[in-house]
Amino acid sequence: MRTTVLPTDVRSLVSGTSPRLLPLEPLDFSAHRALYGSTPRIDGARVIEMADRAGLTGQGGAGFPVHRKMAAVREAAERTGRRAVVVANGSEGEPASAKDKALLWHSPHLVLDGVELAATAVGASRAFVAVEAHSGLRWRLRTASEQRAGSRVPVTIVEVPPRFLSGQETALVSLLNGGPAKPRFQARPVFEDGVDGAPTLLHNVETLAHLALIARHGPAWYRSGATTTLFTVHRGDAAPAVVEASPGLSLERLAGPGVADAQAVLVGGYHGSWLPVASASGSPRATPADGRVGPATPVTAEGLGVPLGAGMIAVLPQDRCGIVETAAILRFLALESAGQCGPCLNGLPRIAAAFGALARPAPRADLVRVRESLSRWAGLVTGRGACRHPDGSARLALSALTTFAAEADAHAHGRCRAPGRPPMLPTGTAEQGA
Ligand SMILES: Cc1cc2nc3c(=O)[nH]c(=O)nc-3n(C[C@H](O)[C@H](O)[C@H](O)COP(=O)(O)O)c2cc1C
Ligand code: SF4
Repeated sequence: MRTTVLPTDVRSLVSGTSPRLLPLEPLDFSAHRALYGSTPRIDGARVIEMADRAGLTGQGGAGFPVHRKMAAVREAAERTGRRAVVVANGSEGEPASAKDKALLWHSPHLVLDGVELAATAVGASRAFVAVEAHSGLRWRLRTASEQRAGSRVPVTIVEVPPRFLSGQETALVSLLNGGPAKPRFQARPVFEDGVDGAPTLLHNVETLAHLALIARHGPAWYRSGATTTLFTVHRGDAAPAVVEASPGLSLERLAGPGVADAQAVLVGGYHGSWLPVASASGSPRATPADGRVGPATPVTAEGLGVPLGAGMIAVLPQDRCGIVETAAILRFLALESAGQCGPCLNGLPRIAAAFGALARPAPRADLVRVRESLSRWAGLVTGRGACRHPDGSARLALSALTTFAAEADAHAHGRCRAPGRPPMLPTGTAEQGA
């Protein structure tokens, strides 16, 4: 069983003002009201219009426009005559990510404000907040929820198993319907057929906290770049930090001066991409055009050239091996898969095993063939599962093959830049299949 420790290193890099999403001290309801004021009363159609005008997109990884999901749920509820359900996804199954747990611990009321607004948008009669089991968050959210007399929607707090797949939307709906927390093949999407078969609006908790801020400050404020984003930042052996950052902050500001001498950064978490860092002697303004990043590169999808995914950034120092690091993550991802579809049953274990073999430095003559096989298998699993787990795992593998190409060559000659050093990124335990 994986144990979770709530992040204690919570920082703000918000320019010119105090933190917005993440107060440095946890807030109870009266402190929350004193800081933010009460949630404005807005009718459902206007909540959707507000999300549209703000350009709010989901923070759960895929970046889907919020207003479109809301409109689809509302339309399905009207068409079927079923009352909609709202689910706030705070599962955060990725062991290297802590920003959603920090948000729920420090600002539970901002998330609950967002849940109420989302419920208004789709006319929902009930809502759920999903949190990781054994994290203490069920108690925190339940206490927060009890402080809110006269809430617009009844909210139930549910615990999900601390597994990578628990937060995938069909896995979460399956759990809420009394089944296992595993992704499911669904004939109809969750927005039509979710909790108890009702149209279900499912959003990441950070998305809902942004909605609560937009309701107070307006879409123009959000669009003007006054908003912030949460990141979980890993730097070598240091404890991970959860950072609230203004948009477009440089990699060095976000992740510290070690970036200049780093080897690579992992952007977006375990379904993300490795990017090589331009050497300290090279241009600090390295752009994605040359495939590398530098200390001055803005931490945006455009600046880095890859999606920010789950908002996790890991800086890999020179004295670590990227192949070893990736092999450990791929093994974890393969073990966490539900093994229900071909790509996870056959493809991910094969990719993980090949990377595991590459991670052991030993003279080998078949490196070209292994690289070709890995690229082919990554292509074969992409888009073929019932969920996006194979796609994310393949993305990570392919980016590592490119970023750590020289290290793979060294391994094939029996050398490693960090012999015997264990991986720095957490992978929890994954003895059983999902
Ligand atoms: C394997 C897998 C794991 C996921 N885990 C999470 C998670 O822990 N938390 C989360 O918010 N979204 C997770 N997602 C994304 C959800 O399926 C869903 O798209 C998201 O919660 C929607 O929220 P948003 O519209 O606010 O982005 C995961 C997706 C996949 C494929
Ligand atoms: S793709 Fe993998 S993780 Fe997703 S449902 Fe299929 S077996 Fe499960």
